[in-house]
Amino acid sequence: MAEWSITYDKWVPKEQTLREALCTLGNGYIATRGAFEEAKAEPELNYPGTYLAGGYNRLTSEVAGKEIENEDLVNWPNWLPVSFRQQGEEWFHLSNVEVLDFKQELDLRHGLLCRYVHFRDSKGRETKLNTRRIVSMANPHLAALQWQLTPVNWSGEIELRAALDGRVTNSGIARYRALASQHLITLEQGQHDEESMYLVVQTVQSKTRMAQVARTRLYLGGKASGLIPQTRVEQSYVAHHFTVQLNQAQPLRLEKAVLLYTSRDWAISEPLLDACQNMSRQGTFGESLDEHKRAWQRLWNRCDLYTACNTKVQSVLRLHVFHLLQTVSGHTVDLDVGVPARGWHGEAYRGHIFWDELFIFPFLNLHLPAITRELLMYRYRRLNEARSAAKEAGYKGAMFPWQSGSNGREESQVIHLNPQSGRWLPDNTYLQRHISSAVAYNVWHYYQATEDMDFLSYHGAEMLLDIAQFWSTIATLNHETGRYEILHVVGPDEYHTEYPDSTEVGLNNNAYTNVMAVWVIQKALQLKNVIDDSRYDELLTKRHITPDDLTRWEDISKRMYVPFLEDTRIIAQFDGYDKLEEFDWEKYRAVHGEAMRLDRILESEGDNVNRYKASKQADVLMLFYLFSSDELLSVFEQLNYDFKPQSIPENIAYYEQRTSHGSTLSKIVHAWVLARSDRKRSWKNFEIALMSDLEDIQGGTTSEGIHLGAMAGTVDLMQRAYTGLEIRDDVLWLNPVLPDEMPCLDLQLRYRGHWIKVNFTANKMIITFDRGWSKEVKIGVRGQVHTFKTGDQKEFDIRR
Ligand code: BGC
Repeated sequence: MAEWSITYDKWVPKEQTLREALCTLGNGYIATRGAFEEAKAEPELNYPGTYLAGGYNRLTSEVAGKEIENEDLVNWPNWLPVSFRQQGEEWFHLSNVEVLDFKQELDLRHGLLCRYVHFRDSKGRETKLNTRRIVSMANPHLAALQWQLTPVNWSGEIELRAALDGRVTNSGIARYRALASQHLITLEQGQHDEESMYLVVQTVQSKTRMAQVARTRLYLGGKASGLIPQTRVEQSYVAHHFTVQLNQAQPLRLEKAVLLYTSRDWAISEPLLDACQNMSRQGTFGESLDEHKRAWQRLWNRCDLYTACNTKVQSVLRLHVFHLLQTVSGHTVDLDVGVPARGWHGEAYRGHIFWDELFIFPFLNLHLPAITRELLMYRYRRLNEARSAAKEAGYKGAMFPWQSGSNGREESQVIHLNPQSGRWLPDNTYLQRHISSAVAYNVWHYYQATEDMDFLSYHGAEMLLDIAQFWSTIATLNHETGRYEILHVVGPDEYHTEYPDSTEVGLNNNAYTNVMAVWVIQKALQLKNVIDDSRYDELLTKRHITPDDLTRWEDISKRMYVPFLEDTRIIAQFDGYDKLEEFDWEKYRAVHGEAMRLDRILESEGDNVNRYKASKQADVLMLFYLFSSDELLSVFEQLNYDFKPQSIPENIAYYEQRTSHGSTLSKIVHAWVLARSDRKRSWKNFEIALMSDLEDIQGGTTSEGIHLGAMAGTVDLMQRAYTGLEIRDDVLWLNPVLPDEMPCLDLQLRYRGHWIKVNFTANKMIITFDRGWSKEVKIGVRGQVHTFKTGDQKEFDIRR
C-alpha cells in the first residue's frame, strides 16, 4: 500500500470478492463494487453489485416452515459490463486466459479504480487491457469507465459489447441464498439515441424505480472511431455491440458513461426522462474525471489526517476515510438515509442501520457536521415509528429499532442461519434497546461539536425527551431494593441473549443499558437549561410529559440499579453474570484464532455460548469508551455507588480476558480504553482494528461489505483518543499522548464554525485557527483554558 492507494500485483481469484468490496466506488448516493467489467455473479469468484443509498425492498421467504419477511438492500442493474471476443469465440473472461501481468490500483486521492492486465489466449494472441472507472463525486448520478484494449502480437476483427444488465438478484451472501432474492422487475429497455441505451427497473414491493442510461463511444488510435453501435435487447438486458477491425499495437478505447436516476430523487420529473436529457449534456470521460477529482480534493481538504511518522497507518486511515466518504457524503444530504453498518458495499446485514453510528459520527462531527445532522434527521423522521414501537411494547416515548431500514420499523431478522451447523436459529438480538441511547448520545455530541441550537431545540430535544420517557417507562422499581431495574433486554454483547436453560428471552439489568438510560434521563432533564424555556415547555406538552413524569425521571437518575460482581468493584455485565461458567479460551483460541464467532462454534457443537463468561464484544467497557472517567464517576456518584477511578483498570482487565472480539467494533473499544493506561496494548488493539477489513480478519466477512464502524473508529482513535480530545463544559480539551509508534500527526477539525489545524509532534502541539467565524471559542490544554479566534496560533509544550 502506498500513501494514497491500494494496489494488487497479482490476480488471486480467491481474494476477488474481498477486493471487490475494498475497491468499491461510491459517492454517498450510489456505490458499485470493484468487480471486473467482464464479470458476472459467480459464487465465491465475482460479485458485481450496485447499491443505492436507502434503496430497500421487502420480500417474503419460506424458511424452516415459517414465512419470514426481510428488507434487503437491493442489488440494482449492473452498469459495468464491457467485454469482447474474437469472431466466433468465447467472450473474454480472465479465467480463460493466461495472465502474464496484472495490476489493480485503487487511487484514494482521486477515487479512481484502475486495472492493467496483459494476457495470452489459447491461440497465443497477447493482449493488453487497461481500464479506469469512477463513480462521480461531482455528479451523484454519474458513473463512467474507460476500457482500452491493445493487441500486442495480432490484428483481426473483434466483437465488442457494453451492456446494462438487469438480470441481477441479491445473491452476494451465501447465508441468505435460501431466501427470496428477486427484487426487481424490468419496466422498459431499449435504444435512446444513436449512442445511448436505457434500462428501467422497479423494486417489486417498495416500488422504487431506477433508470439507467448508458452512452458508449469508441476511439481508435486515440481518435473518435465514428462507429455506431447496434443495440440488442434481451429480457432485462440491453447491450451495444460493435464489430471492430483491430491492428497490432493500435489501442481501441471504449468510453461508457452511465446516468442513474431513481424515483426517490429530488428535482426531477421522471427518472428516465431526466437521465436521457442529462446524458445529452454529458462530457467525455476525461472531463468527468476532472470534475470528480476536484470534488474529492474538496473532501480531502476537510477530512485528511496526515502523519509522516507511520506510512502504513497513514495509508490505511486514508482507505477508511475514503470508504466513509463514499458511503455518506454531501450527496447524502436530503436523501433521507442512515449510515449502514457495512457501507453500501455489499449485502451483509441488508444495508441496515445499527448503533454503529456511535463509532462513525464522532469523525463526521469534527469534519462534515452537516452530514451528521442529516443522519440524525433520518432518525428524527422515524420518530413516529419508534413511538408506535414503544407503545406496542407497553411503554411510552420512543423505542428505536435495533436494525433500521426504510421506514424505521424493526428490521432485525427473526431467525438466522448458523453456517457452521446449517441450522436456522431464533435471533433475539433485537432486544438491544440500548440503540435508543445511542441515538440520544449522538444528538448530544453533535450539538456539543457544532452548537447547532436550531437542531437541538427542534429535532434533537424531541428525540432526547422521547427516549428519556421510554427509559423511564421500561424501568421498574424493585420495592425490595429500592432501585430501578430494566428487565428482558440484550446488551451490546450479542452472545448473551437469555439465561442458560431459561424459556424467556432477554437478560436483566445489563449494566451498559442501565447506565446509558440514566445518562439520557440526566441530559433530558438538563435540556431545560440549554434550550429556551418556551420550547422546552412546548415539547413537554406536545409529548404529554407531565410534572409527575419529570419527578420519576429525577428519581430514576438517582436510584437506577447497576449490578456488580460480589465483593468487587467489577461491574457485572448483567444480573447473574457471575453464575455463568468460565470458558476455556486457550483451547478454542488455539483452533479458531482470536476473532472467533464463539456463538456459532459452540452451537455447532451442541453447546450454548449463553452458558459462559464469554462476550462477543465490549459491553461494560463501552462505558469507558463513551464517557471520560470524570463523567462516568459523576453518574455513579449520583447513583450512590462507590465506584473509584482505580476500579476502571480492574474492569478492563477482567473483561479483556473474557472477550472474543467477534465484532470488529470490539477492538476499537479496547484500544480506546487502554489508550492511557497501557499504551502498548492499546496500540496492538488499534493495529488489529486497523487491519480488520484490509486483511479481512473475521475470515470472509469483508467481502460481504466493509465494517464502517471499525473503519471510522480507527480514524477516531487517532483523532480523539490519542490526542485526548474531549468537549466538556463548552471547552474543547486536548491532552495528547501520541503512541510511540506514531509520534506525529496533523489534523484539521471543524469545531463550532471554525476550521482548526492541530499539529502534534512528540514534544509540541501547535493550534492554528485557520478559517471560520469571528466568534471566540475555548481550547483547554493540560488543565488551562485558552481563548482562540480566527487567525490565532499558539504553541504548547506537551512533553510528558
Ligand atoms: C455487532 C453489532 C453491530 C453489528 C453491525 C454485529 O456483529 O455485534 O454490535 O452493530 O454487527 O455492525
